Amino acid sequence: MPLPIIIDCDPGTDDALALLLALASPELDVRAVTVVGGNVGLDRTVANASALVALAGAAVAVHPGADRPLLGSFVTEPRVHGADGLGGVVLPAGPPAAAEHAADAIRRHLRGAGAPVTLVGLGPATNLALALMTEPALAAKVGQIVLMSGAWGEGNATPAAEFNAGNDPEALAVLLGCGRPVVLVGLELTAQALATPARLAELRAAGSGRALGFACEIQGRVPMSRRLGGAGAALHDPCAVAWLLRPDLFTARACPVTVDLTHGPSRGRTVIDRWGRTGAPATALVAETLEADGFFALLGERLARLP
Ligand code: RIB
Ligand code: CA
Repeated sequence: MPLPIIIDCDPGTDDALALLLALASPELDVRAVTVVGGNVGLDRTVANASALVALAGAAVAVHPGADRPLLGSFVTEPRVHGADGLGGVVLPAGPPAAAEHAADAIRRHLRGAGAPVTLVGLGPATNLALALMTEPALAAKVGQIVLMSGAWGEGNATPAAEFNAGNDPEALAVLLGCGRPVVLVGLELTAQALATPARLAELRAAGSGRALGFACEIQGRVPMSRRLGGAGAALHDPCAVAWLLRPDLFTARACPVTVDLTHGPSRGRTVIDRWGRTGAPATALVAETLEADGFFALLGERLARLP
């Protein structure tokens, strides 16, 4: 049976490839796409999500959610994603988003689910946290929570914080404390999914569909990562989806993970105790290695299935 999932995202160039990967994969039953601000403002992330779902030919509702974190406001990242969120690539517009708020939609789907639902978080975790904070009993309906979030080393939004964790650390802390299995796909993992020009050329050659073409066009607009030596750009969010499709491509380690909620320079840092130095119980499964060739082969094979 396909795995019921809800994808929460902030498209976003890498969110775009992650959404297309999920919608192209019959192993996943995407019950809803919920949208949060983050990479760019909520109006753009919602429009982008709707256009991407339509591009995939999928009939999945898109729900607008939080335009700010639980505390403060989002810090957007137009340098990576462009002002429009897709690197300036204009997709055919999708249908209007649903009127129902993301958190309400997540609660509704969890309430009515006959089997556990996997929550996939690809942006700041605000919507997911709001859903579970306002109806905590629904955590029992969550199979697992897979987040592209965090890092055990340096951040990419600040020296301390990865972008999603740093944009809403309180929301991440809520999910880590909700009692359901959390998988963290962080920066050290996603750095192994490095979209170099050669990888992008291979991806482009994987098929001839319109969605694949747009995906490669979008990814081609992403600047090379200085943090990763300028050789490519990390495909962060597709790694979280790939975890569900091909867990055999990954290794992971159960670790105690806490989030720095102070308001100083280390705010949003995920403190990942990989060596058990604190003696604390594990709170997340932290992805550590990725078989990159297998990941890119999966991505190409699936995106090539789209129209
Ligand atoms: O740090 C990378 C994460 O932040 C990705 O989800 C990217 O889309 C941005 O949201
Ligand atoms: Ca994202």
